[in-house]
Amino acid sequence: MDLREAEKRIKELVGEIEYHNRKYYVEDNPVISDYEFDMLVKELSELEARFPELVTPDSPTRRVGGEPIKEFKPVRHVSPMLSLDNTYNKNDLSEFDGRIKRIIPDARYDYFVELKIDGIASSLTYEGGRLAIAATRGDGLTGDDITHNARTIRSIPLSIRNIPESLSNTRFHVRGEIFLPLKSFEKINNERLSGGLEPFANPRNAAGGSLKQLDPSVTARRGLDFFAYQLVPEGDQTMPGSQSRSMELLEEMGFKVNRHNRKCPDIGCVMDFCNEWEAKRSELAYEIDGMVIKVDDLRLQGRLGSTGKSPRWAISYKFPAKQATTKVNDIIASVGRTGAVTPVAFLEPVRIGGVTVSRAALYNADELERLCINVGDVVIVERGGEVIPKVVKVVEKKTDGVFRLPDKCPSCGGRLVRDEGEAATRCINTSCPVQLQKNVEHYASRGAMDIEGLGPKVIDLLIQAGLVGDYADLYGLNTGDLVPLERMGKKSAENLVENIQNSKDRPLSRLYYGLGIRHVGGRSAEILAARFNSLDELIKAETAELEAINEIGPVMAKSIHDFFREEKNLNVISKLKAAGVKTSEERKTPETPQSLAGKTFVFTGAISLPRAEAEDMVKSRGGKVTSSVSKKTDYVVAGADPGSKYDKARELGVEIISETQFKKMLG
Ligand code: IVH
Repeated sequence: MDLREAEKRIKELVGEIEYHNRKYYVEDNPVISDYEFDMLVKELSELEARFPELVTPDSPTRRVGGEPIKEFKPVRHVSPMLSLDNTYNKNDLSEFDGRIKRIIPDARYDYFVELKIDGIASSLTYEGGRLAIAATRGDGLTGDDITHNARTIRSIPLSIRNIPESLSNTRFHVRGEIFLPLKSFEKINNERLSGGLEPFANPRNAAGGSLKQLDPSVTARRGLDFFAYQLVPEGDQTMPGSQSRSMELLEEMGFKVNRHNRKCPDIGCVMDFCNEWEAKRSELAYEIDGMVIKVDDLRLQGRLGSTGKSPRWAISYKFPAKQATTKVNDIIASVGRTGAVTPVAFLEPVRIGGVTVSRAALYNADELERLCINVGDVVIVERGGEVIPKVVKVVEKKTDGVFRLPDKCPSCGGRLVRDEGEAATRCINTSCPVQLQKNVEHYASRGAMDIEGLGPKVIDLLIQAGLVGDYADLYGLNTGDLVPLERMGKKSAENLVENIQNSKDRPLSRLYYGLGIRHVGGRSAEILAARFNSLDELIKAETAELEAINEIGPVMAKSIHDFFREEKNLNVISKLKAAGVKTSEERKTPETPQSLAGKTFVFTGAISLPRAEAEDMVKSRGGKVTSSVSKKTDYVVAGADPGSKYDKARELGVEIISETQFKKMLG
């Protein structure tokens, strides 16, 4: 085959493959077998290998590009990617309709109602009919360049077929949602679980995480998908006059648009359609979190305009939190590290929004009372933002009784007490084995003394063998003690002893955290370490002194004070000191210039750095990171697809900066 023939055949093959790609990934209607498809790709790859000069960037063999990228470059959107106002009930929808009627009283209009895909809003830029840039929404003005990853998504055309004359020689943008189908979500989470990784909380986070990969071959394996929902021409090309017509055009151009979207002549029809999908959402292969209602006519959209943040011609109708009805098979109360006894409901497994739920939190005695819940009852469970779902209410009582917390500790049989004004019921036996176990686990955990190889199983064995009665005992262990333990070889015993010894030199903040003082988390431990550079000083601190520290409230102050008035705790601390654990440190003169001193930051949305790293960067420069936006916040760093904190910041007029601006600020 000579060059000319090869060129011709490559063109044919590219066309064929793109056609079948579309049939498979966009239309979900393949017309040839996977094998036949693979053969076409194979032939193309071979030809391209023989004639490298004929490879085009939009060849279907080039979806997964070469090297991983180094960083996400910022991309400025031609026009802002607005977000939508949310509504939660039919009243709000009527109001929305009323508002439109007031602004354009003379106009007759239809609505175009779309499914609101729960994914990551993105914008694709095409030049001369070829995909040039893909970017996330970011802060609406600037997003991250994710071209390398978007190219791996099969439903995103690399080049447009049937391109309308008016678009063929200009730049235009297709906006839509990159999302993860439920099947892919489950597959990824299963893989993560078997690899010992934390599963993603929901498909949206998993999609975000997949797009944040620097290496496109990782993204390619995730099975992402894309629905187009807006065509944005650049310049003044003649365009379809309506959203519904734009969608048809996008479909003709080879994009995947949602087939369920529908035109409605009035708001009553819109409401019915919303109801219909609220009931049917679980039948879909992907998650939707509501509906988007748009005025169909694009000229009317222009007349309605937008308020800074969101268009007046569209609104989102959010579905209520996801709930399901199921039966309580059991209620089990378990003791935690601080002795608090927490009841958990074990449920007949039920699917809620594509996720199987079999446990729900019941929190404490008050909650049991409020719910009037017992084993056997039929309940409504809700999956919200929390890690573990909760019981909303009992819908059918199978017994008269209410489950009560036991009066004895389920672990040690000790007495349980509930202090006045406290929600938690606690086991007050200081040598309760479960508390001991959890205390040692906490001490050894990654955020505390970080002792590798000292997991729950080994700790359990150490306690059972009577070798460890508190975490200070760890430092007395030698290889000879460990070798007889189940599945402990000589080498691992030696390593463990070494890791334990190495933990003596951890920064003071880690020790403060590791002590396991109630309410003292990692962040508070850092604050304490900045103020008290020796444990002895901290021990002596009076409640008032602690309370005077910024970010330490009265409850934590009292808890810290009480902890060090407990004889038993002081004994453990003496043992730690005797073992040579570092309990004081030089006050560090900061090497990093304190350029952010006094500034408060809030992060929202996905950024390319790990969140913890970004936070450390702020802290090491003297700044503060908080989790919610208030008037006191100086900067909100908005990454890809920011959450409600972004809206809050706008509302309060807090300065919003992009990841790039943030990095500049760090210097
Ligand atoms: S239209 C100005 N249509 O919902 C129009 N958005 O705040 C902006 N979304 O960020 C968006 N499905 O991520 C539109 N069919 C749909 C959508 C949709 C999901 C997301 C999008 C946007 C958010 C609205």
